[in-house]
Amino acid sequence: MPIRVVRTVSALRRAVMRWRAAGERIALVPTMGALHAGHLALVRAARRRARRVVVSVFVNPAQFAPHEDFASYPRSWDTDLAALSAMGVDLVWAPAVAAMYPPGFATRIVPQGPATAGLEDKFRPQFFSGVATVVGKLLIQCAPDLAMFGDKDYQQLLVVTRLAEDLDLPVKIVAVATVREPDGLALSSRNSYLSASERAAAPTLYRVLEDCAGKIARGALPARALDEAAAAIERAGFVLDYLEARHADTLAPLSSRADGPIRLLVAARIGKTRLIDNIAV
Ligand code: PAJ
Repeated sequence: MPIRVVRTVSALRRAVMRWRAAGERIALVPTMGALHAGHLALVRAARRRARRVVVSVFVNPAQFAPHEDFASYPRSWDTDLAALSAMGVDLVWAPAVAAMYPPGFATRIVPQGPATAGLEDKFRPQFFSGVATVVGKLLIQCAPDLAMFGDKDYQQLLVVTRLAEDLDLPVKIVAVATVREPDGLALSSRNSYLSASERAAAPTLYRVLEDCAGKIARGALPARALDEAAAAIERAGFVLDYLEARHADTLAPLSSRADGPIRLLVAARIGKTRLIDNIAV
């Protein structure tokens, strides 16, 4: 049987209500398509925890700034659908932009807390309000028991967790570990933008993060370890947006291991491509 694709909120609600009436647990996996093994790990985690799995595929214009890559963002609908079908996904929620944001749409969720930590938000000021608005809508539209998000986008994961809690949405946000290439590069739809030489340099980001986390775990001062790491990343040909040690739960700045569990977060540009990654210490 071909996988079921729905394009209107009312059709989505009918399917979800039928499952709910049968007492079935529902998991939602929000994506922007261009699916890779990282996305599929989220789907697999959803399958393990819920009887029904909904995957949303929606390239959300609200989270792209005018100069960013909304128009050119990779789209691979046919192969996405085949992959989701092979994994036994129950339903694909693929609204048109006009179904998500109909004429007259005038509401935006503006998250604070982890969304204003001075990391991604500093370089993409509209990003988290775009993400929060669409994820809020997706969670209301699907009313899932669980929703899966990747550690890969660590600040986004914390923003979404806070959003669900603050808006009393009856959903459990589940974090899924980052899936990487064998050389350590975190899978990302944007890796397809990398030239061969950029792709060869790209694993440095994770290698340096690991090295830096190891040094801090062995007692090095974070500031010192981060300085060395920043230099190594720049030597590999990246322009750094940020490389920081933050409290893993709140993203508050910290200066020593004693201040709490540490997460290292990095964003850097190589050529025209911007990559992000993060790691626990
Ligand atoms: P997208 O970049 O398509 O990612 C969808 C989900 O897959 C996110 O939760 C992301 O963290 C996760 N993901 C991406 N790469 C991963 C990897 N290598 N390993 C594990 N998980 C990975 O993030 C978005 O879309 C959007 O902002 C969205 C939440 C859908 C809202 O529009």
